[in-house]
Amino acid sequence: MSTILALLSLLSCLLLGASGYNGFEAIAPKVLIITMFDPEAKVWFNIPEFDILAQNVTVPGLSPLFPDVHCAEINAASTISSLLHSRDFNLTSTYFLVAGIAGVNPKVATIGSVTFARYAVQVALQYEFDAREIPAQFPTGYFPQGSTAPGQMPVSWDGTEVFEVNDALRQKAFALAKTATLNDTTEAQLARASYSNLTTAACPSVILCDTATSDTFWSGDLLGQMVENTTRVFTNGSAEYCTTQQEDNATLNALMRGALFRLVDFARVIVMRSASDWDRQSPGESAVANLLGPTPGFEPSLLNLHLAGVKVVQGIVNEWNSTFAQGIPPTNYIGDVFGSLGGQPDFGPGSLFEGKGARA
Ligand SMILES: *[C@@H]1O[C@H](CO)[C@@H](O)[C@H](O)[C@H]1NC(C)=O
Ligand SMILES: *[C@@H]1O[C@H](CO)[C@@H](O)[C@H](O)[C@H]1NC(C)=O
Ligand SMILES: *[C@@H]1O[C@H](CO)[C@@H](O)[C@H](O)[C@H]1NC(C)=O
Ligand SMILES: *[C@@H]1O[C@H](CO)[C@@H](O)[C@H](O)[C@H]1NC(C)=O
Ligand SMILES: *[C@@H]1O[C@H](CO)[C@@H](O)[C@H](O)[C@H]1NC(C)=O
Ligand SMILES: *[C@@H]1O[C@H](CO)[C@@H](O)[C@H](O)[C@H]1NC(C)=O
Ligand SMILES: *[C@@H]1O[C@H](CO)[C@@H](O)[C@H](O)[C@H]1NC(C)=O
Ligand SMILES: *[C@@H]1O[C@H](CO)[C@@H](O)[C@H](O)[C@H]1NC(C)=O
Repeated sequence: MSTILALLSLLSCLLLGASGYNGFEAIAPKVLIITMFDPEAKVWFNIPEFDILAQNVTVPGLSPLFPDVHCAEINAASTISSLLHSRDFNLTSTYFLVAGIAGVNPKVATIGSVTFARYAVQVALQYEFDAREIPAQFPTGYFPQGSTAPGQMPVSWDGTEVFEVNDALRQKAFALAKTATLNDTTEAQLARASYSNLTTAACPSVILCDTATSDTFWSGDLLGQMVENTTRVFTNGSAEYCTTQQEDNATLNALMRGALFRLVDFARVIVMRSASDWDRQSPGESAVANLLGPTPGFEPSLLNLHLAGVKVVQGIVNEWNSTFAQGIPPTNYIGDVFGSLGGQPDFGPGSLFEGKGARA
């Protein structure tokens, strides 16, 4: 592990900053930062802490540089898969830091905040009717697959509805990130004021709460409640939904598949999401205005990805020999709905592999 870190932007699809590559020996980064679009990648450029641009590596199979492509989840899955199967890299001891911005549930956190998730829940993997054609008693058009109404457990599971990551590592990342002084702006403070009825948070902070993935960039109070409910139902009451994004289920599924082939250690995954915009309108505002209006949280949320994330990266690198090289053993279940990596999920229909995992 001579190398320090690498940055993967799913959009620009460059791997940056892995030193010590000699063309023969695989690069073994201590930390790989996973960013989803250009602004998220750029907050790591020209920073005082380290030079992530010291070396760039291009991996075949990553998506070409399309400036206008929005990073849909299918990109995330394909990019991570290509990386994991690249012979240029040895990622068996690498820590993966997902570092992206997200929509935020104002009941749990406020714009500018940095969150660390234990659960990532794929809330759009459901049945759906258009809102104008829903049964009278349905609060929204979404309801779980195989079920007959919202609020029920899914009857047919795809397996990727929930991913749970290493909580002991998450607690360490949280403690490291909390040492950061976060950014805030006057514009964000003004925007926050109109949410004072929904949130008690007066300024950005580092918090522990869970993330939801949906291909659809949704907005509104009803869908916000749907996501709160779905997150709770899919995790058997465990997850507290606070951020919404479009990639983490794909990233985590690709990493889990990599772990099945022993290409990565799924116990070394950290999901960090900062809050750039509200998932729903403020009192008196419309869901449309919330989505199409200004996003004053964008700037501080990007800055805070670096400010908080760099503490995590430095912590891992500085405490490598004493702590992180050997790994942080999880004490919670980690993996998918089906128990593919072994153990018994605390949600879903139970392990399909009698607790032994798909490799057994
Ligand atoms: C890596 O790429 C960045 C931007 O794409 C560039 O500024 C930098 O000079 C490159 N580094 C090397 C060592 O070529
Ligand atoms: C990858 O690195 C680990 C140590 O971190 C080593 O045990 C393993 O042999 C390496 N794998 C390959 C294919 O070089
Ligand atoms: C946040 O960052 C902006 C842009 O760099 C800067 O103007 C502002 O002073 C910063 N605020 C704090 C509280 O650090
Ligand atoms: C999850 O990821 C896959 C890509 O692997 C994507 O096709 C799918 O739509 C995603 N699911 C949700 C609910 O967003
Ligand atoms: C969320 O769940 C609560 C409690 O079961 C229910 O009253 C409410 O209608 C649900 N809301 C949505 C939008 O699904
Ligand atoms: C916020 O709550 C207070 C007290 O419940 C109420 O008087 C006020 O109208 C609410 N403000 C908005 C914008 O909903
Ligand atoms: C960590 O261990 C490596 C290899 O054993 C050694 O070269 C390095 O100096 C150590 N680093 C620290 C900070 O002790
Ligand atoms: C879900 O929660 C219930 C009630 O707390 C518990 O009895 C059940 O065992 C849980 N299911 C799983 C899969 O852990």
